[in-house]
Amino acid sequence: MIAAMFRSANAASPVYALGLGLLLLLVLFATLPALLPALPVASAGIAWAMRKHGLPLRHFLRSRGAWLTTLLAVTGSTGWWALADAHAGEASAGLALGTAAITAASLAYLTIEGHIMRSILELVPTGQRDQLDSFLSGSDPVVAAGGAVADFTGLDPAQVTEAIRHRVIGQDAAVEAATSLIFRRARLRRPNKPIATLLFVGATGAGKTELSKAIADTMFRRNLIRVDCAELSQPQSTQRLIGAPPGYIGSDAGGWLCREIGRCRTGVILLDEIEKAHPDVLTTLMALLDEARLTEQSTGTTFNATGFVIVMTSNAACSSIAQVVAATEDGSERIGRVKDELKAVGFRSEILARVDAVLPFGDLTRSAVAEIVGLYLLTFAADVGIDLQCVDAALLIDLVQRREQIAGYGVREVVRLVEGAVVDGLLDVRDMGYHTAAIAVDGERVVVTGVE
Ligand SMILES: Nc1ncnc2c1ncn2[C@@H]1O[C@H](COP(=O)(O)OP(=O)(O)O)[C@@H](O)[C@H]1O
Ligand SMILES: [Mg+2]
Repeated sequence: MIAAMFRSANAASPVYALGLGLLLLLVLFATLPALLPALPVASAGIAWAMRKHGLPLRHFLRSRGAWLTTLLAVTGSTGWWALADAHAGEASAGLALGTAAITAASLAYLTIEGHIMRSILELVPTGQRDQLDSFLSGSDPVVAAGGAVADFTGLDPAQVTEAIRHRVIGQDAAVEAATSLIFRRARLRRPNKPIATLLFVGATGAGKTELSKAIADTMFRRNLIRVDCAELSQPQSTQRLIGAPPGYIGSDAGGWLCREIGRCRTGVILLDEIEKAHPDVLTTLMALLDEARLTEQSTGTTFNATGFVIVMTSNAACSSIAQVVAATEDGSERIGRVKDELKAVGFRSEILARVDAVLPFGDLTRSAVAEIVGLYLLTFAADVGIDLQCVDAALLIDLVQRREQIAGYGVREVVRLVEGAVVDGLLDVRDMGYHTAAIAVDGERVVVTGVE
């Protein structure tokens, strides 16, 4: 009878929970004096249930059954306390509470037996219950929410390419190849494949990461999952991506990459500086490249990444690649030679075999660097709220030269330098009440002056 009551109560969960909550609150008020003797009873009950079901304490504490049990144990012990008190003349109250105690004990037993696990499963959102049920009943592995289709309606390929070209300067061939491939592949909707898998190669600071971000921003509503492979150089790094095996420390936290894929559903997965990842990490990521799937080790849940573009970047063999790019016409010969250069420095050929396109980033020309400097100058000025009227040629020449003269002095550093050199001056000019400014160079100093 009690079991049937529980079953029907479960069906009307919110009403049941409210009623039960009120009831328990009343009981709690009535039983306050007996709370102390009840605590050991409740703790013993929890300890017993933990041992019997092998559950960690936090699971137990999160289950509704556990709280119910604890409160019922309070009622029970109060009952017995009142029963003992009955000898002092409160026979009817003692009898009533004694009955309550016996009911409480039975309910507690049923709750612990049948409801601890169920309570945990109840934490699963309603929409995912069927999936979970079919998994628990032993059918196929679960494919988590995903397999979403990237929605490019309303995006004009020519406009998107143009917008990205304005942001990633001097890499037109790579930008055009990337956007046209993504648009084409998105229309194909290949089952069990990512939208596209791209490999960006070339020198550091040439715009590889920037292009990945630009694609995410313009085509995928800023959904970018960035995996910094330099941080995944240990064999156990795989656990950060797909979780620890069940039973290991951290297994309940799940895998970060899996969860991000589940959360974003479509977007760009950027595997930045892929050559720095540990081989075990690469092996794990192969399933993602091959079948757009990633299985979380801790839960066995498979996440579907068919709505993602996967971009890998690499700085490997960058100087020889720059030479190849300079010496060959755009085309299959160039790509063949770039791949040869990558293989020559030990780049994994399994990865090369799985990418749809290898896109080499050439060295930035002087005018491209000047344009990038200009882009950032204008952005900094706009952020401050100042219109730039005039910029000294000496500033641009100096910045471009610095990048050329100092090895490893990438655009990244130049951008930082621009910021350091002009932002304070721009702010001062704005504080003086100007809306327009000119930037000049005086010896080693950059001078920003307000213009009426
Ligand atoms: N082609 C480019 N166009 C515009 N900005 C660029 C370009 N290349 C580099 N930058 C700037 O330099 C920074 C570093 O570039 P990044 O894309 O991270 O280089 P990498 O090729 O090493 O990934 C970027 O944040 C961006 O500000
Ligand atoms: Mg980068």
